[in-house]
Amino acid sequence: MFQFMTATRIIFGEGALNHSLSLLNNYGYSALVVTGRDEQRAAPLLGYLKQQNLRFQQLAVHDEPLIAMVEEMAALGRLFKPDMIIAIGGGSVMDVGKALSALIPNQGSVYDYVDVVGRSLPLTAKPLPCIAIPTTAGTGSEVTRNAVLISAQENVKAAIRSPDLIPDMAIIDPTLTYGTSKAVSARCGMDAFTHLMEAYVCGDPNPLTDMVCEEGLRRLAPAIIHACEDDDPKARADMAFASMLGGMAQSNAKLGAAHGLAAALGAVLDAPHGAITAQLAPYVMAENILAAREVGRMSLLNRYRQLACILTGRHNAEPSDGIVWVQRTLKRLELCSLPSLGLCDTLFEQVAASALRSSSIKGNPLPLSEKRLLHILHRVCESSDLAESTDLY
Ligand SMILES: [Fe+2]
Repeated sequence: MFQFMTATRIIFGEGALNHSLSLLNNYGYSALVVTGRDEQRAAPLLGYLKQQNLRFQQLAVHDEPLIAMVEEMAALGRLFKPDMIIAIGGGSVMDVGKALSALIPNQGSVYDYVDVVGRSLPLTAKPLPCIAIPTTAGTGSEVTRNAVLISAQENVKAAIRSPDLIPDMAIIDPTLTYGTSKAVSARCGMDAFTHLMEAYVCGDPNPLTDMVCEEGLRRLAPAIIHACEDDDPKARADMAFASMLGGMAQSNAKLGAAHGLAAALGAVLDAPHGAITAQLAPYVMAENILAAREVGRMSLLNRYRQLACILTGRHNAEPSDGIVWVQRTLKRLELCSLPSLGLCDTLFEQVAASALRSSSIKGNPLPLSEKRLLHILHRVCESSDLAESTDLY
């Protein structure tokens, strides 16, 4: 038995935003609009709201989605009493929009509803209708059920989690990602890759998430470099699609040790989530393959073989070829290494211990010991070229 949840309505394609604007009228007469740093991308939306005389208030998220900031925004939102929330921006903007859709109709503070640093109370009132419009291809937050926020005091991420947080409508217009810098496109794109990869090999997949992951990886593999370097329309569309599928996959299957370690590292490094998960991905794949060989888990090795076939486009690829593909792609995308982002061996034990407590690591296809996590961190820090690694062959 399995279940699969996603946004009620998904509108995808070039020009999807302009095409869908009239649908906003179905959700009421007033909107709280959450935008990101580049408010220009929201111009057609704001123009439409003005033209229709819909009452709206705009709130901008310029930096991290801090709990204190969301608390203030929720207070403003409760005074404004919107009929709907529209979030147009990257993952943080959509997460803030989703959090506001839950907080405005519910009593109390953010801390009542977030996990990790809060009370994880269930939502008693149904969230406001939420329309999510991504402008980057990475998190897939437009179709997920979490709103990830940051507690500045404890320096940790905490999330409001509820199936009711899945946006009512996701409008995915790949043209909104045009012009995004190579660095941002690369780290967001590799985050989408890590969602698809980890959900594909995780301990709790289902036939629908398998299908979603395979199609997402098939689209992403040939597209990611073109999307980042040339702003190629087909590649941008494939990345937007793969990102959405990555969101569906992570929301309906599980993730793994790359996201577990990334959650721990995110608390100690001042680096974007995608940059961290991207660099961890090949080393986690290598460790899982080694662990699977040790215990003779042929089904898992076959998964990694299938993953490698999709990534390389070769029907006879070996599990290690998938790792080589990831490392070559990271080099082409010129993503910063984790040591250059501040990772050093004095942090290893703290990071490994904290990763073992993360929710993502529970989805890893095999339990990884602290010793294995330390091995991953050592290899990451040495920036080992895994194509040269004899233990993988
Ligand atoms: Fe991620």
